Amino acid sequence: MEQLELLQRAVPLLLEWYRVSRRTLPWRGTHDPYKIWVSEIMLQQTRVETVKDYYLRFLQRFPTAQALAAAEEGEVLKAWEGLGYYSRARNLHRAAKIIAAEGFPATYEGVRALPGVGDYTAGAICSIAYERPCPAVDGNVLRILTRLLADDTNIDLLGTKEKFSSLLRAVYPQEAGEFCQALMELGALVCLPGGEPQCLVCPWRELCLARLRGEWERYPVRAEKRARKSEEHVVLVLRFEGEYALLKREGKGLLSGLWQFPFAERAPETYGKILKSKRAVHIFTHVEWHMTGFLVEAKEKFSQYTWASAAEIGEKYALPSAFKAFRSWLE
Ligand code: ADE
Repeated sequence: MEQLELLQRAVPLLLEWYRVSRRTLPWRGTHDPYKIWVSEIMLQQTRVETVKDYYLRFLQRFPTAQALAAAEEGEVLKAWEGLGYYSRARNLHRAAKIIAAEGFPATYEGVRALPGVGDYTAGAICSIAYERPCPAVDGNVLRILTRLLADDTNIDLLGTKEKFSSLLRAVYPQEAGEFCQALMELGALVCLPGGEPQCLVCPWRELCLARLRGEWERYPVRAEKRARKSEEHVVLVLRFEGEYALLKREGKGLLSGLWQFPFAERAPETYGKILKSKRAVHIFTHVEWHMTGFLVEAKEKFSQYTWASAAEIGEKYALPSAFKAFRSWLE
């Protein structure tokens, strides 16, 4: 059977399954492009379970693009605190200013041109908000499709997403938003990565070539991964008269513009008296931080740092999750 024909048969089975099996999620049941956009940006690198609360809080705080555009960048970053990949929040804020001035873009090209919106996110927004046949292909969608079709294309190659987008475009049903989310849902609930697809409850179990050939473990075919870099840091939680030292991360790199507890440039005991210490690890996409943290009663109010109380750190300073292990020392 041709790939297209197999996919055509798969579409109604998927939609039927989705209507019964979908999760109730806070961003489902709206066509407001602003809300869909916020949800899709949050979902770009973050799990659904984590996004739920952030999404609801964010929309309470910034219910419209106008409200978001009018906020200070620090407020937006604060609302994003803990979600990671902070350039998403900065782009969201930049894009909100464009949307507040010009309205939400009405075309795929217009949506795709917003800062922070790539092919996948533009496809999801146009499918879900506008019911247009705009495929949203990410790693999850590639996994379920390469399995269904037993397709050996290396999914890390340039052009693979476009190939599967074209296939999907050819079979896109009227219910574009449901179809787009049904593909995501199958990848999230049934056709799981690694060694645990739930084939017995899959709507495609009688069609899936990988399963019928007993070869689903081969898919998706991938390029070899590069190893993550490992860095060692000494983290200082310096306390001086109820305030703590913070440093703003400069430059364009990892976590730039956000706040951190300073990394030590000399032996921790030279900053004051060491009260506590512990180890922590934080894994980013391309690097992992192995940290030894010291709580230190600082011997002076070192002027190279910004000093803030625990309450101020809670309210005003976006302190990324990488430092979470050391926050319990604040009082
Ligand atoms: N991942 C990305 N977009 C999503 C959506 N709209 N629903 C569930 N998971 C998603």
